[in-house]
Amino acid sequence: MTEKPDSVGKVNNDVIRGAAPAGASDRDSAARAVREMFTAIAPRYDLLNHLLSVDLRCGTGDMALALRKEGQQADITGADFSHAMLVLASKKNSSRPIRWIEADALQLPFPDHSFNLVTSAFGFRNLADYDAGLGEIFRVLRPGGEYGILEFSEPEGFMGKIYNVYFKSILPRVGRLISGNSGAYSYLPASVERFPQPPEILNRMKVVGFRDVSWTPYTFGIAGLFRGKR
Ligand SMILES: C[S@@+](CC[C@H](N)C(=O)[O-])C[C@H]1O[C@@H](n2cnc3c(N)ncnc32)[C@H](O)[C@@H]1O
Repeated sequence: MTEKPDSVGKVNNDVIRGAAPAGASDRDSAARAVREMFTAIAPRYDLLNHLLSVDLRCGTGDMALALRKEGQQADITGADFSHAMLVLASKKNSSRPIRWIEADALQLPFPDHSFNLVTSAFGFRNLADYDAGLGEIFRVLRPGGEYGILEFSEPEGFMGKIYNVYFKSILPRVGRLISGNSGAYSYLPASVERFPQPPEILNRMKVVGFRDVSWTPYTFGIAGLFRGKR
């Protein structure tokens, strides 16, 4: 907004000289909007800022970077056993540094009860031992801590049939053309087919000791989010 000239010593309440949230037209409405914004996030503000979080099988770090946007002050670690993936992750900009650690998710180099939140996107399915992987998440979570594991699943019905054609025939060919690697993109549909159905994974989570376990499907069941608490 264009600043109106003030007479000396007189406060002009129409002029915004500091932060101005979208839609604010004067100082009162700017202050009101900022107050409402912080009031809305107050219940989770401490949690997000004091969060100690680890993204397992982080790959090139996109999930850890998404977490950074939610918790500017959170202490975030990304772990993966592929050095090449971590090199790419570490080149991405983030408002506050993320700690990148080369580690096997089946033998994490963190003490018990290290984190409030453990996340994983599209990597859990690759583990050689699901129970051991869940056991490590349980070990490094603090009591009351939560995890979220995003994984592919197989959609059912008509959508499932269409998706199967794409996933098993088209995607491996496109992936092979772009990456020059035929193995990785044939492995993807094969690994999703082998991955146990959500009820079995939920049961394994309970056996490890997690409570409040759930699975929420997204996009016709192409992917789903497993959640639980220690
Ligand atoms: C499909 S990528 C997903 C990467 C990333 N989370 C994303 O969503 O883009 C799977 C990643 O899991 C990692 N990974 C698989 N098994 C692992 C294990 N046992 N320990 C650590 N990382 C593992 C791989 O190196 C790879 O970077």
